[in-house]
Amino acid sequence: MKKFSLLSFVLIFSLILAACGTSGNGDDANGEGKKTLKVVTDAAYAPFEYLEGDKIVGFDIDFINAVAEEAGYELNIVNTGWDPLFVEIEDEIADVAISAITINDDRKQTYDFSVPYFLSTNKILVPENSDIKGAADLTDKVVAVQNGTTGQEAVEGLLGTNSSNIKKFENNNLAIMELLSGGADAVVADNTVVEEYAKNNPNEKLVVVEDTDAFESEYYGLMFPKGSELKAEFDAAINKVFESGKYAEIYKEWFGSDPDVENLKA
Ligand code: ARG
Repeated sequence: MKKFSLLSFVLIFSLILAACGTSGNGDDANGEGKKTLKVVTDAAYAPFEYLEGDKIVGFDIDFINAVAEEAGYELNIVNTGWDPLFVEIEDEIADVAISAITINDDRKQTYDFSVPYFLSTNKILVPENSDIKGAADLTDKVVAVQNGTTGQEAVEGLLGTNSSNIKKFENNNLAIMELLSGGADAVVADNTVVEEYAKNNPNEKLVVVEDTDAFESEYYGLMFPKGSELKAEFDAAINKVFESGKYAEIYKEWFGSDPDVENLKA
């Protein structure tokens, strides 16, 4: 009799333990009851997200890891590529996307975004000896862009939506390759990406042209399926990462300077 009750006690106790372990209603990767979220990205956009061997690294990766830690989630970051990441978020196959994604009205119709975490603008990457000195000079040139980006949109605004002088690529590295091989006169993409590329590849002799009249300021956000409950949790966690100094630490590691956090919070 005594033996029996001890056995049932042990049984009930293990049932309770099992129930607690899965209360996060997702995969329990670390045994601490933390839910694992599927994060999608296009890891061809250094320094934000890129591959080092088969490892996905970058500012965005460090940032979302810090935010997830604050929010109490484990992450499974998957390199789906750019176009597929939008499909995965819309179809709720993935929980969140980070990919230097600009928050804009068009995308807001289909997706939810976190508070902004990075300020950006499009700039023009050209060979050192190019006669392109501003956006107006692009109108009779061949311009390479990543398909489905704000860079593409900006160039369409200058050259016309159906211009055959706009070459669209699946990722931004392919657009840059096109410039290097002489198939395009310029690449239009996010300033940090083209500036880092020109700086890190001095042998290619490229320069970056800015045009603050033609290209607007943009803010990056994490992107969620519409109505996702994660948005509120991640917004709170992002603000904590701003306030704790963790954001500044990560920013400094990647960019060597201090971020303007106040401007992001405004
Ligand atoms: N910020 C731009 C946009 O949202 C380009 C982002 C491209 N990101 C990437 N990982 N390829 O359209």
